[in-house]
Amino acid sequence: MLEKIQSLISEVNQLKADNAEELERLRIEYLSKKGRISALMQDFRSVPAEHKRELGMKLNELKEAATAHINALREALSVKENTDTDLDLTRTPYPAPLGTRHPLTIVRNRIIDIFARMGFTLADGPEVEDDWHVYGSMNFAPDHPARDMQDTFYVEGAQSMLLRSHTSSVQSRVMAEQQPPIRVICPGRVYRNEAISARAHCFFHQVEGLYIDKEVSFTDLKQVMLTFARELFGPQTQIRLRPSYFPFTEPSAEMDVSCQICHGEGCSLCKGTGWLEILGCGMVHPRVLELNGINPDEYKGYAFGMGIERIANLLYRVKDLRLFSENDARFLDQFTAAY
Ligand code: PHE
Repeated sequence: MLEKIQSLISEVNQLKADNAEELERLRIEYLSKKGRISALMQDFRSVPAEHKRELGMKLNELKEAATAHINALREALSVKENTDTDLDLTRTPYPAPLGTRHPLTIVRNRIIDIFARMGFTLADGPEVEDDWHVYGSMNFAPDHPARDMQDTFYVEGAQSMLLRSHTSSVQSRVMAEQQPPIRVICPGRVYRNEAISARAHCFFHQVEGLYIDKEVSFTDLKQVMLTFARELFGPQTQIRLRPSYFPFTEPSAEMDVSCQICHGEGCSLCKGTGWLEILGCGMVHPRVLELNGINPDEYKGYAFGMGIERIANLLYRVKDLRLFSENDARFLDQFTAAY
């Protein structure tokens, strides 16, 4: 029996367990009431009295060794469980991924930056506007089609409140508050009641500009527009002004820039014309100056307005306008820029 105990002692000291189930199996095999050590205790009863002392001590040694070893295994397993991950707390952290600016923000900031360098300051106004600031003060006739429910979102229950359909409303607010010289640009979101498609959305973004002073001519407008176009699209860019109509400017023009891809040769981007339309502009209508409290005999001005999405499309060739408002990270992550 002494030998049996001795060999069990060396056996228990070599036990190993890789997980909690194995450990439990060992505990049952050696330490439970029906386990191997209990069985030896049973045998111990029939041991002759003269051997009892020696064998009893050995048996205790075995029991203690088994208990101590199994406890040590349990301890080791729980330490392993807590640290057995990929986590290395001593490692320096990965650089946190930086977000990217929205492409429309990048383009807006570039436009603001160009005009800021020409001395324009920023002006802001509400998106929910009244009819006066959006249409009345901008010389829209009471029956002008843009006021129609087709184009304008009216606020329910408040007929003269609406979502602004252009940021000219901000120009009107600036003129009402400030006497010339005025040199502002007004970036912001505008709303029009259009069916959403790849080419149209019910909201988009504009930057409009207003310049009012004593001696202002169409030449000033043209030079500022040329400078802007070359800053934005590159120094080779040409501009073209085509006669147009807006209620708030006279004369009015639509401005094209030479095509970025074919440089005037004609391609699919410019639909063979060599030109891309980017903005509307003109000399501020004397009636608009008057309506907004500025003396048209003393002052003149020019104004311009462009869609940021349109310009972003030309710069980045985004084919579907809806991508700008869908927050798809796969699209947005492609725009890394310093602006
Ligand atoms: N307000 C015009 C629009 O929304 C743009 C524009 C602004 C045109 C200023 C001429 C002058 O389409």
